Amino acid sequence: MKVSVIGCGYLGAVHAAAMASLGHEVVGVDVDPIRVAALAAGRAPFYEPDLDELLARTGRAGRLSFTTDIEDVKGASVHFVCVGTPQSADSDAADLRYVEAVFAALVPVLQPGDVVAGKSTVPVGTAEGHVAEVEAAGARLVWNPEFLREGYAIRDTLSPDRLVYGLAPGDATSAAVLDAVYARQLDAGTPRIVTDLTTAELVKVAANSFLATKISFINAMAELCEVAGGDVGTLADAIGLDPRIGRKFLGAGVGFGGGCLPKDIRAFSVRAHELGADSAGGLLREVDAINLRRRAHVVDLVQNELGGLVGARVTVLGAAFKPDSDDVRDSPALDVALRLASAGADVVVTDPRAIDSARRVAPGLTYVADLEDAVRGADAVVLLTEWPQYRDADPVRLGALASRRVVVDGRRVLDRAAWEVAGWRVRVIGSADGPMGILSAG
Ligand code: UDX
Repeated sequence: MKVSVIGCGYLGAVHAAAMASLGHEVVGVDVDPIRVAALAAGRAPFYEPDLDELLARTGRAGRLSFTTDIEDVKGASVHFVCVGTPQSADSDAADLRYVEAVFAALVPVLQPGDVVAGKSTVPVGTAEGHVAEVEAAGARLVWNPEFLREGYAIRDTLSPDRLVYGLAPGDATSAAVLDAVYARQLDAGTPRIVTDLTTAELVKVAANSFLATKISFINAMAELCEVAGGDVGTLADAIGLDPRIGRKFLGAGVGFGGGCLPKDIRAFSVRAHELGADSAGGLLREVDAINLRRRAHVVDLVQNELGGLVGARVTVLGAAFKPDSDDVRDSPALDVALRLASAGADVVVTDPRAIDSARRVAPGLTYVADLEDAVRGADAVVLLTEWPQYRDADPVRLGALASRRVVVDGRRVLDRAAWEVAGWRVRVIGSADGPMGILSAG
């Protein structure tokens, strides 16, 4: 089947390559000629494991091409809308300018029988506002949200947990068209939920809101553990053994960031307010507030340990919002580094992948690529992104380089006993200042 993918950022580039790998003939469209040239040469403009290889392979096979010309989508039977919906510059609402621009450009080139499949995460009601113009062109509009995680984007696209089709009233044909696109996933037993446009839009924001809520829930428990003298990791293990709760996304620490969770919960609460359901939005405002408190808390921990931040050399391990990514959008690690610097610390940031992207948004910080060079002379080391190379770093070697052996574990991944044996004073976010509790599962 011939399909187009409009918007070749994170979602679109992965979706285009994944659709081509399923055997479809794919044309990707983006307004940025530099991005189009990179993708056409088999290079993703961001780091995602295996994506370059998939782009190159499907490109060589002649099933994937990229263009800046929207006219080139003619002949495709499904057009996937994959542009971003970032947070607005001046409010918590989603900025829909890219979605609006796609519809303005795409509708005039639609052909009767085409299906427009929205994948962008949009405020509820957005799709309904475009049904009439798409149908006037003889085409159909469906909403088909995407749930991919950075770092696992190809796997999540090719083997999703579920497929969701949101259909406009009276649409009896588009589900079969999407079934043909996703035939391989459906054959593999992927559950498929067919619903209306509104519910499909809400499924995506509700899923991200739930994940964010789960993280902030455990971080609220971490706040309690810290003052009461408990250990949030043991607590999470214990409650996570209840299958109704589950252990996933109960990782306490410096909280969530990235291009999705923070902006999606904010957009959700703005939309809830607009629709007269402000109390529902209130839940997510609290989730956001708990999340942001964790960042301030890490800064306080470092300050307390050092007895002041002015002039102190603080090494921050991690800039990306999570490991296996070079994405620093709303990254807790980079935010904490900036907060430490504005409190007067002399901050050095290291990260295996994200230094270039971090430098673009926070040029005032000092970046050092090598872990040992970064730790040399540090008064405190703060782990904020749980890259394996930081989790597994040798505390004896690093201890010989640091000025003072003070480490704050903002992701709860260090082997506390090993660091203490190596002479480090260890503070673990979400644990009392003492040995951690131990789970007895027996
Ligand atoms: C998320 C959703 O998981 C995905 O389904 C959606 O399509 C896009 O948004 P992503 O932003 O790639 O994906 O990252 P995710 O793995 O969900 O992590 C988000 C943030 O939460 C990261 O900053 C991570 O460090 C943090 N996190 C995650 C925790 O703090 N604790 C956890 O237990 C899990």
